[in-house]
Amino acid sequence: MSLKNKINEIKSQFDSDLCLLDEKKVDHNSIHYKYLGRKGLLTNLYSELSKVNKTDKPILGNQINLLKSEIASKLLKFIDGEKNIKNISNSDVDISLPAKKINSGSIHPVTLIIDEIKNIFEKIGFSSVYGPEVDSDYYNFEALNIPKHHPARDMQDTFYTRDFNLLRTHTSGSQIHFMENTKPPIRVLSPGRVYRNEDISVRSYCLFHQIEGLYVDNNVKFSDLKGTLDYFAKEFFGSSIKTRFRPSYFPFTEPSAEMDVYWGLNSKSDYRITKGTGWLEILGCGMVDPEVFKSVKYDINDISGFAFGLGIERIAMLKYGIDDIRLLYEGDVRFLRQFKK
Ligand code: PHE
Repeated sequence: MSLKNKINEIKSQFDSDLCLLDEKKVDHNSIHYKYLGRKGLLTNLYSELSKVNKTDKPILGNQINLLKSEIASKLLKFIDGEKNIKNISNSDVDISLPAKKINSGSIHPVTLIIDEIKNIFEKIGFSSVYGPEVDSDYYNFEALNIPKHHPARDMQDTFYTRDFNLLRTHTSGSQIHFMENTKPPIRVLSPGRVYRNEDISVRSYCLFHQIEGLYVDNNVKFSDLKGTLDYFAKEFFGSSIKTRFRPSYFPFTEPSAEMDVYWGLNSKSDYRITKGTGWLEILGCGMVDPEVFKSVKYDINDISGFAFGLGIERIAMLKYGIDDIRLLYEGDVRFLRQFKK
């Protein structure tokens, strides 16, 4: 029999011996000596190697080496496995106890709402960008047509840093950051945290979240704004939701509006939430004021656009029936785990 055939034969012999070992029909030591012992089958193979011709030697030698290490590692695993079982069953560990529970986290309700809104707008071609939370007076106010002594600043008092930057009061500054670096057409959302110097209560907090939307192209009309936001409301609240637009004022949009959705007056809390009207304001919006386009050096004869800003907490509170805004920031796992899917 050639050496090559012998190697193969020993290999298959070992496999069947391994089965016997597994069935405990033979003991580990005898198998070890049979193959790896000083007078074992492998030693035998090595001595036969000296008789083969020069060209076959390295190939066959390699095969014997491989077989040897395969046998050694398979036998070792056997010992380890047996040892482990013995160790465990001899120790004080009760292996019949149920496994430890692994706690996984869940997505925060504010993030859930942001993701849902992003998905709805993604379907109509909006992508997302993020503006800075610490920004300059210029991006947060001046470039948005809110000069130093404009009364609109009163409603958006905020926190200033020593170097005269501020914590942004709304996500509208992202409009400017984005337009400075991009040419129209633009379809973009910008979600994120905003800050205001508010009295803290069940309804307001010193930080909250908004999603800004911006659409700029040739010939964008107010009807595009209404159609887009109506589409959003139907996707988010369901196709039977009623919406209405009320005229409003923002320095950076002209004309400006607020959109309400009809919430109904079926319960006591509906009266409280909607202040007895049944309608609930969910966002501010309008056609981008030409002054804003001028600050980013767009040609105002060429383009037009609309913008909107949605308050996330208000929507999260409505959707999940949360009655105190502060719960959203306390990180209490008993509250947060309720949003686990
Ligand atoms: N930035 C406004 C606010 O925080 C909302 C808004 C955004 C209004 C975009 C119009 C256009 O109240």
